[in-house]
Amino acid sequence: MEKSDRPANVSKSKSPAQTHQPEPASEMTEDRKSPHVDIRWLKDIERVLITEQQLARRISEMTQAIQRDFSGREMVVVSVLSGTVMFLADLIRHLNLPLRLDFIGVSSYGAGTESGDLVFTKELRIDVKNRDVLLVDDILDTGKTMSRVLEKLKALRPRKIRTCVLLNKAARRVENVKADYIGFEIPDYFVVGYGLDFAERYRNLPFVGVLHEHVFKEVQKSPYRK
Ligand code: IMP
Ligand code: MG
Repeated sequence: MEKSDRPANVSKSKSPAQTHQPEPASEMTEDRKSPHVDIRWLKDIERVLITEQQLARRISEMTQAIQRDFSGREMVVVSVLSGTVMFLADLIRHLNLPLRLDFIGVSSYGAGTESGDLVFTKELRIDVKNRDVLLVDDILDTGKTMSRVLEKLKALRPRKIRTCVLLNKAARRVENVKADYIGFEIPDYFVVGYGLDFAERYRNLPFVGVLHEHVFKEVQKSPYRK
């Protein structure tokens, strides 16, 4: 991943592919100092990768871009459970558009392994046929989740689908899938907080942080698949 001297600004272009230049996570910006980790989290969290302030600022930029692209028609926001919980709440509270919200649940079958098959644990309730859909997920990692969910949504024949993720870990991509709106590009670290979990923990941290190696060892689990 390229190092950048400054956070990328949101472009004024109208094209969805270019409007939303993701921000590099804080350690890749000019001052490589890691923000302070609150004493409560020091044992488990090695460092803060994205602060609350950076999250808030970036999400507000993302909502502006989404608002431009979705104006004029009621949209359906489809959010992938459960990692999107905080991101989704902050994103939609700033979306000044009529919308309906639904959730889709997807989980990997072979628990604790990286290669488990994906199964749907919660189906959509809203009919998205001929609707403008925004699919929201926490992180685009291998891309397996996003491509399976997209495949399922496309079969329901929406009018348009755009994808939105808080984090993009491009280095681990296996599937040929991209997000239209990306909050932050991050390196290949396993991150937690702001909705993201490890073994269902740490979702409540208000920042995105890097977990200490020792936590994986204690739980004796692969960090990626639950
Ligand atoms: P993908 O199918 O490999 O793209 O992974 C997507 C899902 O894996 C995400 O929705 C997360 O639940 C989980 N995941 C991937 N990377 C991380 C991480 O660094 N921290 C927490 N969860 C992750
Ligand atoms: Mg998830």
